[in-house]
Amino acid sequence: MFTFYLRTYGCQMNERDSEALSCLLSAHGHQEVEEESAADLLLFNTCSVREQAELKVLGKIGLLKRAKRGRPELKIGLIGCMGQRLGAELFALLPHLDFVVGSDQLREIPGILERIAAGERHIAVTALGGDDFMRLSEHKGADLCSYISIIQGCNQFCSYCIVPHTRGRERSRDMADIVREVKQQVERGSREILLLGQNITAYGIAEAKRAGHYDPEASYLAELLARLEEIEGLWRIRFTSPHVRYMNDKFIQAICGLSKVCKAFHIPVQSGSNRILKAMNRGYTLEEYVHRVRQIKSLASEAQFSTDIIVGFPGETVAEFEQTLELMREIKYDMAYIFRYSTRSGTKAAENMRDDVSEEEKKRRNQVLLEELNQTVEKRNHAYIGQSLEVLVEGQSKRNEERWTGRSQLNKVVNFPWVESLNIGELRQVKILRSSANSLYGEIVE
Ligand code: SAH
Ligand code: SF4
Ligand code: F3S
Repeated sequence: MFTFYLRTYGCQMNERDSEALSCLLSAHGHQEVEEESAADLLLFNTCSVREQAELKVLGKIGLLKRAKRGRPELKIGLIGCMGQRLGAELFALLPHLDFVVGSDQLREIPGILERIAAGERHIAVTALGGDDFMRLSEHKGADLCSYISIIQGCNQFCSYCIVPHTRGRERSRDMADIVREVKQQVERGSREILLLGQNITAYGIAEAKRAGHYDPEASYLAELLARLEEIEGLWRIRFTSPHVRYMNDKFIQAICGLSKVCKAFHIPVQSGSNRILKAMNRGYTLEEYVHRVRQIKSLASEAQFSTDIIVGFPGETVAEFEQTLELMREIKYDMAYIFRYSTRSGTKAAENMRDDVSEEEKKRRNQVLLEELNQTVEKRNHAYIGQSLEVLVEGQSKRNEERWTGRSQLNKVVNFPWVESLNIGELRQVKILRSSANSLYGEIVE
């Protein structure tokens, strides 16, 4: 039996995979520890989405070579997207690595550990596909917000993106399984769920097509949301990431009409230029994107938006970049993740397009967008002063022990003075008195 330390890089789906893996390993008698130094097995759940993400992991595991020389019994495993992408090649880069497991084979890890314990080395298990992830439904406990993976993989193949290569084709879990998992978490104390999928709006589509009853006007995700809305004790439903190409009116009506669905929507746009969107193979135009945002606003006027943007995609001109800036000014995002384009080998963009925007120019474009974002968010936070918000109490503030912290339905962090008679997981009205760039401050109103 091992004592293991598990570190997660990358997206929320990876975090969820790590949680399920940690439960699986515990069920096999291994014991998780919080300190790397207390472990005899180090596991790294990795991300390949940008070069920087991979370099971080290579650097980290590289540094462990020496530790392992001093402690030969120490075992090291690399799992997740990087393992999927590079497989056994990683043993050439990192000879002290004991095993590599891809994104779809996490359930093989207990067996691999037995082989490792018996003295085997350099095991790589990277087959893609199958229903492995659907059977990983255990949770460590009842976090106030439970992560629930509902679809794995992506069929969109955006030209810059490695995810379809590291996560394989779209596979969705059964609605009944998901509902059961959510109910179980709510019974254990969760009040909020975050539904996860690389392209969550494709939920159920591949299965419906295979079964011959695909209806482009239906939204299987909307059906799932409606069923989750019925669960008593569940207060908030969030989901990420939707894709405009897979949105239809049914979906929009559901997310705007269901009261538990939080009206803060993360809708990645990537670029404000139609030429770039096309080169990216996003499958929608700027007009279609803006149409969906306006439609949501017209049905739920309080809706707020966040997004992902890539600057410096191959061939992006200054004028095209400025269209993205224009879009940001129009939508007034509440939050945006802005990335500098990074070539991922194996993708269409890497094969056919030259990474011709200089690193310096990418940094400049990134900075311009960040400044625009910060200005909007500050103004918007300021406008909350005087309003009363419903806050889900999350716990003691980490920065200031005399404060509680929580979030509003629109995902704003709200801090307010400590009172004894309050518990984590309660909903309270908080009147906002002051704002900063990142948070709101207020007091409970009864
Ligand atoms: N499925 C989601 C995105 C998942 S990856 C969607 O389609 O929106 C998360 C984000 O990483 C993407 O939205 C994109 O902005 C960024 N990203 C992906 N590949 C990238 C690359 N090669 N270089 C820079 N950013 C990238
Ligand atoms: Fe990547 Fe595009 Fe799929 Fe998102 S939709 S995961 S960006 S290929
Ligand atoms: Fe990274 Fe894999 Fe997620 S590449 S962003 S960990 S799906």
